[in-house]
Amino acid sequence: MKILSIETSCDDTCISIFEVKRGATNASFTVLANSSNSQIKIHIPYGGVYPALAKREHTKNLPILLEKVLRESKLDKMLTNSAIAKSVNMKSPVDAIAVTYGPGLEMCLWEGISFSKELAKEWNVPLIPVNHMEGHVLSVFGKHKGKFSIPLQKGGQVKLKTPILSLLVSGGHTQLVITKKSMDYEIIGETLDDAVGEAFDKVARMLDLPYPGGPQISKLAEEERVKENQSLRGVSQADGPRSSAPRARGDSDPEKISFSVTLPRPMLHSKNFDFSFSGLKTAVLYLIRDLNKKNLDILHNDKIKKAIALEFENAAIECLIYKTKKAIEKYKVNTLIVAGGVAANKHLRNELKKLEKLSGHKIKILFPTLELSGDNSLMIGIAGYLNYIKNKGKVPKLDSVKATGNLRL
Ligand code: KG4
Ligand code: ZN
Repeated sequence: MKILSIETSCDDTCISIFEVKRGATNASFTVLANSSNSQIKIHIPYGGVYPALAKREHTKNLPILLEKVLRESKLDKMLTNSAIAKSVNMKSPVDAIAVTYGPGLEMCLWEGISFSKELAKEWNVPLIPVNHMEGHVLSVFGKHKGKFSIPLQKGGQVKLKTPILSLLVSGGHTQLVITKKSMDYEIIGETLDDAVGEAFDKVARMLDLPYPGGPQISKLAEEERVKENQSLRGVSQADGPRSSAPRARGDSDPEKISFSVTLPRPMLHSKNFDFSFSGLKTAVLYLIRDLNKKNLDILHNDKIKKAIALEFENAAIECLIYKTKKAIEKYKVNTLIVAGGVAANKHLRNELKKLEKLSGHKIKILFPTLELSGDNSLMIGIAGYLNYIKNKGKVPKLDSVKATGNLRL
């Protein structure tokens, strides 16, 4: 079976095609084409995603990418002149289309959905609506090119040792999700305000680093970490007293000062599995304001910028690790999945790996490859296919597929 998948929930336009063959105990995938168009450069001047521009770019890029993936997969030969417009009544190059219908920016989601509906009608193939967050969960099985396989149970669901805990960390979400039965999700905790990726992006903006800020902050923090050979205050120390106010010490010469910053770890000790990152972000804002008052030109001072980046990354990641550890213990988790754009963060990966041996038993930890950490259409195709077989080929009526910006798992 060949599946074409489309992702347009935010600022990446992505289309992939893969072929999948289902065996008794696994499904083997061959990626035939996988293409995306990042809009980062377009959104840089706005310091974040500008929805109307993102929509316009999706409209422009979808037909271009479609032609590209059909050509790459050599499936365009089934279409005369490879012109998509002329594809009406042609034999379909694929057997199904999977598309993200939420969560995300509704005007962007609609672009992918409308485009997919047109194709599904023209090619007379089923349209499988996919939850973007389930796509992230299942991204841990994929590879952006070549072949990969996914272990399956009898009913077609993914075979992993349950309970599974998923830590989903992106620009729009920060969630802890428990799966007791394969492909069944219960959100046990989430951010009450900003998503962790959003906090990285906003702090980067305060430090005059370009969008998207996550990789930028992480790069500065890593340089500082290596330099200072400073290890993260471990999870075990998280219980100790901590000042919630940011501090910076030093005289007025930025090159001579010994600079130390402490930022808060919001909700670290709350009894639930929720997160909050907006206070942490505001603490950085106040810190920068205080430094400016002391005439420290932080935007041109690498030393200060790196110290802030390091402490911010430490604080944000410590919150994620602490709650993840608590959830692993409470739910006696056997498998941990970590996915979403922030799953690319090196420090997060390193700290999570330390959780492998908890409560005497070894936990299996699954991360996506770096190529599949951020938004991509391959994960949408994987989730689409697995839902298709789980639902025994049943799909909703085309007209009922609607963009759902706040869709939940
Ligand atoms: O999953 P994703 O590509 O898009 C959403 O669905 O939101 O996640 C994007 C987010 C951005 O906020 C970006 O700054 C963050 O992931 N990100 C990172 C890193 N790479 C991407 N955050 C921290 N460290 C990174 N290395
Ligand atoms: Zn995403």
